[in-house]
Amino acid sequence: MGDNFFTIKFDNGQLLLIDQRKLPISEDYFICKDYKDVIFAIKSMVVRGAPAIGVTAAYGIAIFVMQSDNKDLLLNNFDNVCREFAASRPTAVNLFWAIEKMKEYFYQIKDKALSQIKTLLINKAHQLYDDDINVNRNIGSFGSTIVPNGANILTHCNAGALATAGYGTALAVVRAAWSGGKGIHVYVDETRPFLQGARLTAWELIKENIPSTLICDNMAGFLMKQGKVDLVITGADRIAANGDTANKIGTYSVAVLAKENKIPFYIAAPLSTFDISISSGDGIPIEERNEKEITNVFSERIAPLGVKVYNPSFDVTPSKYIKGIITEKGIIYPPFKKNIKNLLH
Ligand code: MRU
Repeated sequence: MGDNFFTIKFDNGQLLLIDQRKLPISEDYFICKDYKDVIFAIKSMVVRGAPAIGVTAAYGIAIFVMQSDNKDLLLNNFDNVCREFAASRPTAVNLFWAIEKMKEYFYQIKDKALSQIKTLLINKAHQLYDDDINVNRNIGSFGSTIVPNGANILTHCNAGALATAGYGTALAVVRAAWSGGKGIHVYVDETRPFLQGARLTAWELIKENIPSTLICDNMAGFLMKQGKVDLVITGADRIAANGDTANKIGTYSVAVLAKENKIPFYIAAPLSTFDISISSGDGIPIEERNEKEITNVFSERIAPLGVKVYNPSFDVTPSKYIKGIITEKGIIYPPFKKNIKNLLH
């Protein structure tokens, strides 16, 4: 989905993923021939973004089942394979949500013939894919209501078609506002160190002719002070029961700056991103990635050998900085604890 590209496509027993490590320099597709390839793709960021890795894992589990030719072995190995998927990335809860959906369904149908199980499981993955796009379109419809005409929107990381099955979450709001004729403009944080903003969000917006300007992360505060930003919208990787939100590293700084400058800061995320088993953001596991993401820019080393590096890939924005959380069922406002509970039940 998106403008003449797709993020995820199941085709003839294989999973095709646009290779996000290579964008925007080349538009290559990474082919997953078996479930191990799918795990590699998630770990190595061929595919990334919370909803996208959930849907990808669902297809990976379905591919494992489709390639099984012995039902006893399948039943013996199924949980282990699910565990392998669960170990691929720790922060985005959509991954665990999707694995759980596939697992629940598998155990409902496990007594059927192997050929039937295969068909049903791949159909389940297709359903999660389709649902994700529908959910995102609803996020777009609700979200566009809070976007003023001519707004300058700042976003961080990539919460677009590339981070989902299609259409995006934060970028769903942007897409819906743009197609509704709101005449918006987007400031895109480059999002060091993996550069999801510069490489992916800017690419998506250019493809759709949505006006945008790329900035370095450390420029956001200055632009806000200059009155250039009306609204901030980002995606999320996990939202705790009290509304504290984990998202790409740097989101917290943007939220604090937005508060200081009296600019509304919104999160756009599907209900599958909520983890109400965690009471506050303190309980959200934060992934640390390879130090090379910081010491190198692509293959070029920029930091001295021997330098100590810390590379947390996400941070947590306390809910007091969040004006509202845009979901497929409506916008959640404070008090978050009560209103999240009401919407999820
Ligand atoms: O490390 P990534 O690229 O998977 O992190 C992605 C983000 O933090 C996104 O902002 C988030 O998943 C929302 S995507 C709809």
